[in-house]
Amino acid sequence: MTGRVSMQEREPTPPAPVAPLPPAVASPTAARRPRRAVLAVALVLVVVALLATGLAVAYGIERTSGDRAQPAVPTVPAPTVSRPPALRDLMPPTVRVGSAADGRGMSLDAGYRELLGSEFDAITPENAMKWANLEPSPDVYTWAGADQLVGFAEQHDQSVYGHTLLGRTDVPRWVDPQWSADQLRAVLRDHVTAVVSRYRGRVWAWDVINEALDEDGSLRDTLWLRKLGPGYIGEMFRWAHAADPGARLFINDYGVEGRTRKADALLELVRELRRAGVPVDGVGFQSHLRWDERPRDMVGNLRRFAKLGVSVAITELDVRIALPETAAKRERQAALYRQVLQACLAVPACVSFTVWGFTDARSWIPGYHPGYGAACIFDAALVPKPAHVALMDQLRRIPSPTGAGPGPG
Ligand code: G3I
Repeated sequence: MTGRVSMQEREPTPPAPVAPLPPAVASPTAARRPRRAVLAVALVLVVVALLATGLAVAYGIERTSGDRAQPAVPTVPAPTVSRPPALRDLMPPTVRVGSAADGRGMSLDAGYRELLGSEFDAITPENAMKWANLEPSPDVYTWAGADQLVGFAEQHDQSVYGHTLLGRTDVPRWVDPQWSADQLRAVLRDHVTAVVSRYRGRVWAWDVINEALDEDGSLRDTLWLRKLGPGYIGEMFRWAHAADPGARLFINDYGVEGRTRKADALLELVRELRRAGVPVDGVGFQSHLRWDERPRDMVGNLRRFAKLGVSVAITELDVRIALPETAAKRERQAALYRQVLQACLAVPACVSFTVWGFTDARSWIPGYHPGYGAACIFDAALVPKPAHVALMDQLRRIPSPTGAGPGPG
C-alpha cells in the first residue's frame, strides 16, 4: 500500500450551492453590464497582448533599449534556442561522447567547427598530438596544432582525449634505430614527460600506447620491443603517471572489439600489467568496422575487461561502406553504430564513446581503404545520416534516472 490517497478514498466534498442565472432583461443586476463589457474588452486585450508576445518570442523579435519592437521580420533564432538536441545532450553524464578532430577542418570550415562544438563533449586530436607532428626535430616541439585543439575544447566545455604518446606509425624519422637501448629509452621518456607535463590537468585521458599488439596477439615487433624488451610498455605508463597523476591512462588497439584471439591476448597483457602495479586505467577499443561485419559478443568482451578493474572506451569508431553507398547499406551501417553504442551503455565501466571523425568530408577511410568510404555519421555536406539518427534514438530510449520513462530529448 502506498502513501498515496486515491480520489475514491477521499471524503466527498459537499457540492457548492448553485446561484440561479440572472434573467436576460430588466434584472436588478443590469447596472453591472458596462463593467462586464469593460472586463471583456480588457480580457480580449490581454489575450491579444499575450499572443503578440508569443509571436515575438517565436520569431526572435528583440526589443531595443527604448523598448520598441523591431520590424516584424523573422530573424535567425539564436543557436542556443533553435539547436535541435545533439548527442552530447542525450548521452548519460557518465559517458563522454567524442570525435576525432582535424586541425585543418577546424581552421577552414565554420560548419565543421559548429558541429564539433555542439555535438560532442570530448575531442581526440586525430593527428596533432602524434610524436612525429609534435617533435619534428629532436627537442624542437611544435605545439600549435595541439594547443589549438585543446583551446577549442576548453572553449566548448569539452574534454580532451590525448592520442597518442606512442603510435605504431608516427615515430619521428630522427629517432635512430642504431641508438643504444639507453638512448632510446631516454628519448621516449623525455617525449612522454614533455607532452604529458605540458597538458597536465587539461587532458583527461591519454592513449599511452597504441597498437602494441600484432594481429595474432603477440607483442608487435617494433624498435622499442627489440631494444627495450617488453618492459617498455609498463615504463611508459609510469612516466606518464609521474607527469600527470590525474590523467587516465589507456592502452588502445584495433581488432579487439569482439572476442578475438587478439582481444584474449590484450586481456592477458592488461591483467599482467595491473598485477605488476602498472598504472593502466583503461582499455581503448578503436572499432574501425566494416558495414557488413559484427564484432562477436562485444558486450561480453567489454565486460571481461571491466572485471579487471579498468575503464573501457570506444575510441575510434567508424563504419566504412563498400562503395557505391546505398540506402540499404546506410541502414546497416546505422544498425552497427547503434550496436556499438548499446554495448558501451550496457557496461558501466564504459566511460567514453568516440567516433573517428564525424563527417564523410574528412574521413581517413578513402585514403586507406580503396573502394570504401562514407564511414561517418554526417555526410560530406554535414547532414546527419541514419547512423546519427540511430544513435540519437538509442539515447532517447535510456530510462530517465527517476524511472519515469525515457530520459531527455
Ligand atoms: O597533412 C599532410 C598534408 O600536408 C600532405 O599533403 C599529405 C600527403 O600525404 O599528408 C598529410 O598528412 C596525412 C595526415 O593523415 C593528415 O591527413 C598523413 O600523410 C597521413 O599519414 C595521416 O594519416 C593518419 C593516420 O592515422 C597515420 O597517422 C590519419 O589521418 C588518421 O586518421 C590515422 O589515425 C589512426 C589512429 O592514429 C590509430 N588508429 C587507426 C587510425 C586510422 O588509421
